[in-house]
Amino acid sequence: MSSQNSKQAIRGRFLDIQSTVTQAADIANQVRYIEDGLLITENGKITWFGTWKEGEKHLPNTLKVEHYPEQLIVPGFIDTHIHFPQTEMIGAFGEQLLEWLNTYTFPTEIQFKDRTYADKIAHFFVEELLKNGTTTALVFCTVHPESVDALFQAAERHQMRLIAGKVMMDRHAPDELLDTPEQAYSESKALIEKWHGKGRALYAITPRFAPTSTAEQLQKAGQLKAEYPDVYVHTHLSENKNEISWVKELFPEQKGYLDVYDHYGLTGQRSVFAHCVHLEEHEWDCMHQTDSAIAFCPTSNLFLGSGLFPLKKAWDKQVKVGLGTDIGAGTSFCHLQTLNEAYKVQQLQGEKLSAFESLYLATLGGAKSLDLDDKLGNFNLGKEADFVVLNLKATALQKLRQEHAKNIEDALFALMTIGDDRNIQATYIYGQKVYAQITNG
Ligand code: GUN
Ligand code: ZN
Repeated sequence: MSSQNSKQAIRGRFLDIQSTVTQAADIANQVRYIEDGLLITENGKITWFGTWKEGEKHLPNTLKVEHYPEQLIVPGFIDTHIHFPQTEMIGAFGEQLLEWLNTYTFPTEIQFKDRTYADKIAHFFVEELLKNGTTTALVFCTVHPESVDALFQAAERHQMRLIAGKVMMDRHAPDELLDTPEQAYSESKALIEKWHGKGRALYAITPRFAPTSTAEQLQKAGQLKAEYPDVYVHTHLSENKNEISWVKELFPEQKGYLDVYDHYGLTGQRSVFAHCVHLEEHEWDCMHQTDSAIAFCPTSNLFLGSGLFPLKKAWDKQVKVGLGTDIGAGTSFCHLQTLNEAYKVQQLQGEKLSAFESLYLATLGGAKSLDLDDKLGNFNLGKEADFVVLNLKATALQKLRQEHAKNIEDALFALMTIGDDRNIQATYIYGQKVYAQITNG
């Protein structure tokens, strides 16, 4: 792509978190807010970042500067758990997890054996991510390898850093959605060879969850992870109480739900477990010891009535946490809306989620959870130039509220509470503008 090599210069108000932290209380010390800043990118990477006053000198006079004087520019949002085939079934009425899967999810996913259909939804999905300022996501496809090709191809058009994988599932689902341990292994292996490290694509070994895989299949998943240690593992864990009881019945030889995954070599620095709402103490210890990460999915946990994720416990136990929308159990693609619900989930537990901690979860904390904090999550030099331009005053109510904002923290908190995709003015990936909101003046 020729434009990829061009330099880009963006001027505006920048906000990010400068480095990863081990305690929530340290985040405020890492906030970097530059009221009139300049970001220069080259070949998709950040080559200069600082104040406009200082940076102006570094600008070649042929370079056109894109200026966003009023807006707020933050690192691209990172979605650490989402299902692209469930886009069309968002907002399905009335069920909790296990009934929801049988009633809505499995029939929807069957359609993705058709490559044309998978392409159509993959394109829609990627555009929806961009519209919501999401520049990286860890994504479930379906059991069909074609669904993985469809998604990676759709993401490749925008040079998105996307992590995805084929679902492995050999029991407790309709026949059309089942593979076998051997097929799951060979199809996943072929997809790893094809996609992992191609451009910005990365692969995740994706057993759906323990109830839909036999011990033989989980063993194959572990074998694959041992053969390709730098690919990801992505699955669900401890979301719903009936699910947890079922896992205990299916795997009586294991001490608990997480021990099933741990036993088969599926925990680790590049393992991401969605939900973790009801972990037991020994499971928290295992998450910490194995350096595994959690995708906190507040809209999903509320919508399916799964429970309240104990974020404070994760900080206490030093377990990495990112934010997940979990479409289609989750109810919004938008990280602003997801953070709005995350705040309420903490309120219901007597805890406070600050605006800066929220920003951390949505950006650098997510990058850390995906073991990509050397490449993504803030404006440090050398990082990949993925960022979002936020219009803080997209509605009359927002305008009034922002006019009364006391400081940048208050402004950000209000945006996260009443904001949505209308606030995403533009999304940049690898230095290129890939989405701009059409406004009528
Ligand atoms: N557990 C197993 N499969 C799923 C799924 O598709 N969505 C959610 N939220 N939980 C799951
Ligand atoms: Zn999920």
